[in-house]
Amino acid sequence: MTITVTGATGHLGRLVVDGLQQHGITAVAAVRDTTKATTKSVHADYDRPETLVPAFEGTDKLLLISGNEAGRRVEQHRAVVDAAVKAGVGHIVYTSITSADASTNPLAPEHKATEDLIVASGLPYTFLRNNWYFENYTGGLPAALEHGVILGAAGEGRVAAATREDFAAGAVAVLTGEGHAGKIYEVGGDSTMSLADLAAEVTAQSGTKVAYQDLPADDYAQALIGFGLPEGFARLLAAADVSIAQGSLDVVTGDLSRLIGRPTTTLAEVIARALKQ
Ligand SMILES: NC(=O)c1ccc[n+]([C@@H]2O[C@H](COP(=O)([O-])OP(=O)(O)OC[C@H]3O[C@@H](n4cnc5c(N)ncnc54)[C@H](OP(=O)(O)O)[C@@H]3O)[C@@H](O)[C@H]2O)c1
Repeated sequence: MTITVTGATGHLGRLVVDGLQQHGITAVAAVRDTTKATTKSVHADYDRPETLVPAFEGTDKLLLISGNEAGRRVEQHRAVVDAAVKAGVGHIVYTSITSADASTNPLAPEHKATEDLIVASGLPYTFLRNNWYFENYTGGLPAALEHGVILGAAGEGRVAAATREDFAAGAVAVLTGEGHAGKIYEVGGDSTMSLADLAAEVTAQSGTKVAYQDLPADDYAQALIGFGLPEGFARLLAAADVSIAQGSLDVVTGDLSRLIGRPTTTLAEVIARALKQ
């Protein structure tokens, strides 16, 4: 069986490729820069549709890892789906977002549009609607410890975060298992946290007092711009936080732990590991 993985040079894709290797499957990495790939690779650039059909030929299962250029992804993903049809791909698995069809998250419309394209393509599909990565938060841990504060605009909103490792294991389970065609999995952690919970866990484990400071969305965006983020991205993150306050990521289904056959990694484990790094 040939499994092809797009985005295989990214953080999630690398973990999926490694996970497949542990199942004895050498994935084909369909990537725009083959020099970065750690497995058998073919050139595939979402922005160069002519590269995609040859890249996907002979593929039984294709994992489309969503691109990372918000605002451009529907066009890019359309090229991938069209090429998958032309290449005769047997099954497409797509990394979407929590409640893609109903979410107030500003990133959701592109995922919903991609899901619609995939359904309309007639290809057998599975959607992995990923909740937030824990790594979205642990990346900011050194700064949080230095300043004693975690900033956000998510209010008391709760997030069913999971590690990229767990999301990757879920993707591997779908790619290597049977009975997943036509399924939509709302994948995320087995429990939820608020940003105040995150701050409390960091405080408890590090011994350094870290508080969550909730800001109006505009102020949070301005703070992110002050830290050097491009304005558009800062506003997107602030709007995503507002959607979290509205409950967009407060979704626990158990789908991920069922797929991976074990509980998802907890907040306490994630913070313990992050503090050791
Ligand atoms: N759930 C969450 O919390 C969360 C957070 C962030 C992102 N995401 C989404 O999940 C995806 C995977 O996450 P990640 O952490 O692995 O992201 P990442 O490290 O940024 O990886 C993105 C991958 O997409 C590839 N890519 C981008 N544009 C492409 C193009 N035009 N043609 C072919 N490949 C292209 C990149 O290739 P290069 O290596 O060549 O750049 C990279 O392999 C992201 O792309 C984004 O859609 C989810």
